[in-house]
Amino acid sequence: MKNKIIEGFSKLDKDKKINWLIQEYAHRSEDIKNILTQYWNKNQELQKLHEEFSENTISNFYMPFGIAPNFLINNELYAIPMVIEESSVVAAASKSAKFWLDKGGFKTSILGFSKSGHVHFIFKGNHEKLKSWFDRFLKHQLFENTQDITKNMRRRGGGILNLKLIDKTAELENYFQIQADFDTKDSMGANFINSCLEQFSRTLKEEIQKSDLFPLEEKDSVQVIMSILSNYTPECIARAEVSCPIEDLKDDGGIFPEEFAWKFKQAVKIAEIEPYRAATHNKGIMNGVDSVIIATGNDFRAVEACAHTYASRNGKYSSLTHCTTDDGIFRFWIDLPLAVGVVGGLTKLHPLVTAALEILSNPSAEKLMQIAAVAGLAQNFAALRSLVTTGIQKGHMKMHLLNILNQLGATEDEKQHFVNFFKDKTVSHHLVIDEFERLRSGKN
Ligand code: MEV
Repeated sequence: MKNKIIEGFSKLDKDKKINWLIQEYAHRSEDIKNILTQYWNKNQELQKLHEEFSENTISNFYMPFGIAPNFLINNELYAIPMVIEESSVVAAASKSAKFWLDKGGFKTSILGFSKSGHVHFIFKGNHEKLKSWFDRFLKHQLFENTQDITKNMRRRGGGILNLKLIDKTAELENYFQIQADFDTKDSMGANFINSCLEQFSRTLKEEIQKSDLFPLEEKDSVQVIMSILSNYTPECIARAEVSCPIEDLKDDGGIFPEEFAWKFKQAVKIAEIEPYRAATHNKGIMNGVDSVIIATGNDFRAVEACAHTYASRNGKYSSLTHCTTDDGIFRFWIDLPLAVGVVGGLTKLHPLVTAALEILSNPSAEKLMQIAAVAGLAQNFAALRSLVTTGIQKGHMKMHLLNILNQLGATEDEKQHFVNFFKDKTVSHHLVIDEFERLRSGKN
């Protein structure tokens, strides 16, 4: 083995962590040290705050915080904060916002607002007896024993909505679930849900031992495997949609509205039936959704997991968006399940998250779900609009131009030259390189 194992790494201070890292793993030692330390914030309080979000922090990783303005949502204007490293996503969202601005904008609604979690357990005994004991006795006791945990949430109008026993023994021997549904109001609710579930599991084990309905071997057969919330929230869904008469779908790419509507609908249908395309189609949607989720301090891994599970709910991975062109009306929409919070978590801790929420007028969790769904729909509209007209590279590469020029070490004057150079041409990597070499060599 080339490298050494270290004990107590977490206890070392930042400098020592970096020194050890360089000694063991990095060979451009001074370079790496400078790169890592140049991102330390001069404001030590802010630096400490960020370090403590996670563990073993040695530096900060910046992401661009952008704004997509002019989003008309339910007749109110929004400027949407988006945190994303990929060029052209914010520009695409802004372009879609503008396109729909004079066509009534985006309409959104909440189709459901409950999240679930499960106690996954094994029971080797009489199924019917377990079911009747659950309904007649245990269910009430589960509510009772979580009164303390749910007190504050109930005061805010949320809490446990429903409890049921699910028999899963047909799929896995002796496997049952207690499924609990929750309303966690403006919080994402992970800690609340998991605390309730762990209390349910204790109550289950204690109460079955006390019960005289079951013989000892049945009582002792109860084994809780785990108690955990589900990141799949098909009952916590926001809908966002746009619609307009087909004749209003005027595109500057010179395509007739009817042809545009037809090709666009075909593109959505292809993503509905073809998983290869659906993955890319939904990835584009998540470009928009995740950037809002990250800007507002929410958990994008949870949102991603949920979206893709939902996209596969009918047994085949499919599009998250849908489109119809009936009776001369173009309609395009998304139903997006997601669990977000606007209180707790990073919301009051990360100054940029607080700022992002303020820019959005401090939305409720339901409002934020709708804004994220709009960002996803807008992104997908922009991508499909390009794909069925000019192709994606024209706009994408134009936005990517700066990245290529930065990689080449272009000066500000050279960058300006390239902006003019590509005014009437499609940007491509090789064209940039050729022109850059020509420019630097001073040839005409
Ligand atoms: C790129 O990040 C996303 C797209 O590929 C999405 C799509 O193809 O729909 C442009």
